[in-house]
Amino acid sequence: MARNKIALIGSGQIGGTLAHLVGLKELGDVVMFDIVEGVPQGKSLDIAQSSPISGFDAVMKGTNSYEALDGADVCIVTAGVPRKPGMSRDDLLSINLKVMEQVGAGIAKYAPDAFVICITNPLDAMVWALQKSSKLPAKKVVGMAGVLDSARFRYFLADEFNVSVEDVSAFVLGGHGDSMVPLVRYSTVAGIPLPDLVKMGWTSQGRIDEIVNRTRNGGAEIVNLLKTGSAFYAPAASAIAMAESYLRDKKRVLPCAAYLSGEYGVKDMYVGVPVVIGSKGVERIVEIELSGKDREGFDKSVVAVQTLVDACKKIAPDLL
Ligand code: APR
Repeated sequence: MARNKIALIGSGQIGGTLAHLVGLKELGDVVMFDIVEGVPQGKSLDIAQSSPISGFDAVMKGTNSYEALDGADVCIVTAGVPRKPGMSRDDLLSINLKVMEQVGAGIAKYAPDAFVICITNPLDAMVWALQKSSKLPAKKVVGMAGVLDSARFRYFLADEFNVSVEDVSAFVLGGHGDSMVPLVRYSTVAGIPLPDLVKMGWTSQGRIDEIVNRTRNGGAEIVNLLKTGSAFYAPAASAIAMAESYLRDKKRVLPCAAYLSGEYGVKDMYVGVPVVIGSKGVERIVEIELSGKDREGFDKSVVAVQTLVDACKKIAPDLL
């Protein structure tokens, strides 16, 4: 059986880490694409040269041409520019929106059957634009945010309780970062919900609130430490978990930015919700009942995403 083909559109920090992880996990052959000449070629050659040592077989190819995406099974999109000092959110939005239009056209032409994972920020708006411009079925286009947000939450909780990260599960909804809605009552250690752990004296509500805040600011904390650039190891690992669930039909339940058509009372928008990812893409949207503070937080998050999508529609009215 032929190996899967994984196209990485954008070969920067996250793109390079993605290629390395695809190799180490033997998920398939890799095509790294970028507009900068030499970078995808250099990174793919470097990673290929690590394969005899790490013991994986994969073709690693770098390219500046969309043609090389031909027949890709998965496309992971990190193409775009980061927000630089002096650049407004709207400037960033309009630049990356143009990038999504180009990338969407490239995917539509060469990889119309692919499962597409968008990572480019502002995520919830960019994944919407990518689906509109590629015109791929909405269940084949998702955004990576919740897996990363919940991984950060799980890591901080495991550290707080001094237990294995494997035994901590976390549930997050809503947009990426600031507007993320962590559902504390559905977050557990070995099945024990966090409110019960507070009652058991493992931690205090105050500490949980601090951890939730740190999770919300998880991206900014890393940007402040790195000074140049943003997180890339954990974002890449998150997207790989999503790609793996699709390619191996694992049907994992993962929080992703998914296209909603009425679920949670939201229409024609991408918002972070738990979904089942299998060989058909997003096979099910897990719709839980929300009330009180959780509903409020979710609604706020939806308004934040709606504002971004409206800004996109204004800049690119054809994207409908
Ligand atoms: N087509 C293809 N690639 C492009 C395009 C384009 N039109 N425009 C920019 N790129 C490439 C850049 O040349 C760069 O190599 O996208 C790559 C982005 O890489 P980095 O700047 O290193 O960014 P990275 O850290 O990988 O993050 C990528 O993910 O988390 C988000 O906010 C982050 O939007 C950013 C994205």
